[in-house]
Amino acid sequence: MSESLTVTGNSREERYRSLLPQITALSEDKAGKWAILGNIMSALKYGMNFFWAGLYLVNNENLVLGPFQGTVACTHIGFGKGVCGLAWKNRKTIIVDDVSRFDGHIACSSETKSEIVVPVFGKDGEVIMVLDIDSEHLFHFGKTDEVYLEKVAKIIEKTATVG
Ligand code: SME
Repeated sequence: MSESLTVTGNSREERYRSLLPQITALSEDKAGKWAILGNIMSALKYGMNFFWAGLYLVNNENLVLGPFQGTVACTHIGFGKGVCGLAWKNRKTIIVDDVSRFDGHIACSSETKSEIVVPVFGKDGEVIMVLDIDSEHLFHFGKTDEVYLEKVAKIIEKTATVG
């Protein structure tokens, strides 16, 4: 796999379509899951020009910060807390158009204006991590992001549950 990505297209959907096979190729690297997951976060952040892209890993009653790309972030989030903890609890993707209107939002950066959080499932259907993507723009995420980031979550799932 080349070290650089080429993401083409004018629409968000075209960019995801161009990025997805490259994320699959990154996931086939033999370097181990942490190297792969770090690379996938980089591919998402820089390929899609997001403010922040990262994983929070389920560890007992908390989510703990995992591989990410972007500014320094909070390290622990409780079950049901913030957008990440709620996506874990609800086992469903959550899109927040305006974080200032989300009750209990955990602000890791004042730059973040909207976000999407997608759960990642383990072999027994339990949530093992959540994928959190932040934008510095309001109303940045929609159905296209949900569809493609859920596809990315499946690749992450496969990577994380190996070995
Ligand atoms: N805003 C998230 C916390 C994680 S940071 O955005 C990286 C939340 O409310 O769960």
